[in-house]
Amino acid sequence: DWDINLAKDSHDANNLLQAVKQLQTSSRPVAFPTETVYGLGADATRSDAVAGIYAAKQRPADNPLIVHISSLGQLRRLLAPTAGSQDGSPDARTQGEIPAIYDPLISRFWPGPLTILLPLPNPSPLAPAVTGSLSTFGVRMPSSRLALALIHLAGRPLAAPSANASTKPSPTTAAHVLHDLAGRIDLIIDGGPCTVGIESTVVDGLTHPPAILRPGGVSIDMIRQCPGWEHVAIGYNNSQNAEMSAPRAPGMKYKHYSPKARVILVHGRLSFGLLTNYRPARGKIGLASTMTWRAEDLEVPQHTIIQDQNAPQDPGTKDLRRFAVKTLAADVPNDRSGDGPLTNGEIDQRSESIQFSSVNLGKEAASIARNLFSALRELDLDGVDVIFVEAINETDGDAAAAVMNRIRKAAESEIRS
Ligand code: TXA
Ligand code: MG
Repeated sequence: DWDINLAKDSHDANNLLQAVKQLQTSSRPVAFPTETVYGLGADATRSDAVAGIYAAKQRPADNPLIVHISSLGQLRRLLAPTAGSQDGSPDARTQGEIPAIYDPLISRFWPGPLTILLPLPNPSPLAPAVTGSLSTFGVRMPSSRLALALIHLAGRPLAAPSANASTKPSPTTAAHVLHDLAGRIDLIIDGGPCTVGIESTVVDGLTHPPAILRPGGVSIDMIRQCPGWEHVAIGYNNSQNAEMSAPRAPGMKYKHYSPKARVILVHGRLSFGLLTNYRPARGKIGLASTMTWRAEDLEVPQHTIIQDQNAPQDPGTKDLRRFAVKTLAADVPNDRSGDGPLTNGEIDQRSESIQFSSVNLGKEAASIARNLFSALRELDLDGVDVIFVEAINETDGDAAAAVMNRIRKAAESEIRS
C-alpha cells in the first residue's frame, strides 16, 4: 500500500533504489526523512555498516541507536532470530514475542513517533554497536512513507540516529543534513521538512512502573491514556525547578541541540532591557518566540532610542525578520552637563546599532516543535551571538513538555524576566 511512485525510470525511484542498494551492499550510511527528524541509517544487523554511522556523526559509541522497522513481522523475526530464516518468509516459528505491555501503544501510535525498548534477544541479530553494553534495544516504526519504503525495500532493519553532527540540533530538512554532514556522507533522500520536528518519545515498558525516557512526538498525556501506562514514570530530568541562573561560560554544561550561539531560555516577557543585559558585549541578538518581533514591541527606553531601522526584508529565510535599534552605547551619558544636548554628530559617534533577528515559531506547541530546531539553525546561519528562546507552559499538554525538554538541553541558562 505504498503511495510512492516507483514507476520505472522515475528520478525519485532511481534515487530510492540507489539508497536501497547502498544500504544492502556498502558500509556507507544513507540519510533519510522520517516524520520526526532526518535519520542517518545503516543495516542494523551489520557491524561495518553501523560503524559507518558513528564515523560520519562523530558520535560517542556509548550512545545507543534506535532500530527502525517497516512491519511488525520484521520486528518479530528480529526477536526470534535463530528459529528460522531471515529472508522475510512468514513462518510462524520465526515469530518472537513483543511484551504485552506495548500492545496498546503499538496499536495506537505505530507507525509513528514512538520508540519502545525491548529485551535484546540472545543471540542478538543486531550489530553490537547498536546497543553498546545494554541488554535492551530501542525500536520504532516511523510513519514517513519514504522511511517505510526504504526499510521495506532494503529488507532489513535500519539503525539510525538523528542525522546531525553530534551536539547540533537535529535536522528537520535535507539542507540541515547537508550542512552538518557534507563530505561525510554521500546520499540524502529529500522528503521535505519533517512534520513533527522533534524526535520520537522513548518509553521503557520493561520496568515497573513503565517509564518515559525521552519526551517527544507522542505526548505524555496520550501515553497515559493507554491501559497499563496510567502511572507511567517520568524517567528524564527536566530540571523544572532548576535554579534560575545567569548565563555561564560556554562549554560549562554538556551540550545537546546546540547551535554555535549561546542559547538562553526566558520565562516571561522579552524586553529590550533584559535582552541587552544578557547579551555578550556588542553581540547580535536572536529571538525564537511565539511572535515576530519589531523594535516597537520591545519596550525600548524612550531616552536612549535614537532610531529604529527596519532592516531590509531580505534575510534569505522566509520566517526570519531582522531589525536594528540604534541607541547610545551603555557607557555614554546622553547629555553634557551644562552644554546642552548632544549634536547629531556626537550622537552618531557615541551610539551603537544593536542587531536583532527574530524567528516566529508559531503559537501552538505542535508548531513550535516543528520549527524549533530549524529556527536555531537559521539564527546561527544569520550570525547571531545569543539566542533568546521564549519559554512555553510545559504543563500545556501535547507537545509542550517535549519542546521545553529540547530547549533546556540546548540552553546554557534559564532566566526570568
Ligand atoms: O525520532 C527519532 O527517534 C529519531 C529518528 C531518526 O527516528 N532518532 C533519534 O535517534 O532521535 P538518536 O540516536 O538521536 O536518539 C536515540 C535516543 C537516545 O536518547 C538514546 O539514548 C535512546 O534513544 N535509546 C536508544 N536505545 C536505547 C536503549 N536500549 N535504552 C535506553 N535508551 C535508548
Ligand atoms: Mg540525536
